[in-house]
Amino acid sequence: MKRHEICPAAELGPGERKIVEIGKRSIGVFNVHGELYAVKNVCPHQGAELCKGTVGGTMLPADGPGEYNYAMDGQVLRCPWHFWEFDIKTGEMIFVPEPYRVKTYDVALEKPQLEHFDVGVEDNVVVVYL
Ligand code: FES
Repeated sequence: MKRHEICPAAELGPGERKIVEIGKRSIGVFNVHGELYAVKNVCPHQGAELCKGTVGGTMLPADGPGEYNYAMDGQVLRCPWHFWEFDIKTGEMIFVPEPYRVKTYDVALEKPQLEHFDVGVEDNVVVVYL
């Protein structure tokens, strides 16, 4: 793996992101509650610049009607084109199944994965390893 300096750590505080070009790759580096993560800046759906999307939380299944379960605040990256949501920490798409009762067919769900890279801080400089 090759080491790539991104920015001084002070420029990437909690809740902040920095999008950088490393070679031919565009990478989004995120500080999620003090932990750093890096993901490829390409949405696996139709190729939007995913890392320009909003970061927040999402609604997860609740216990019953009228109840809401807002979770993962600051950890969910929402694509700016069609609003698919991804867990910045794992790169996995967040999927909330709907309990509709209609005719069903066999179908397989393959979760899109974002490309992840190792990221860390060395001497107060954020670095990504590719
Ligand atoms: S391009 Fe990202 S959700 Fe469609």
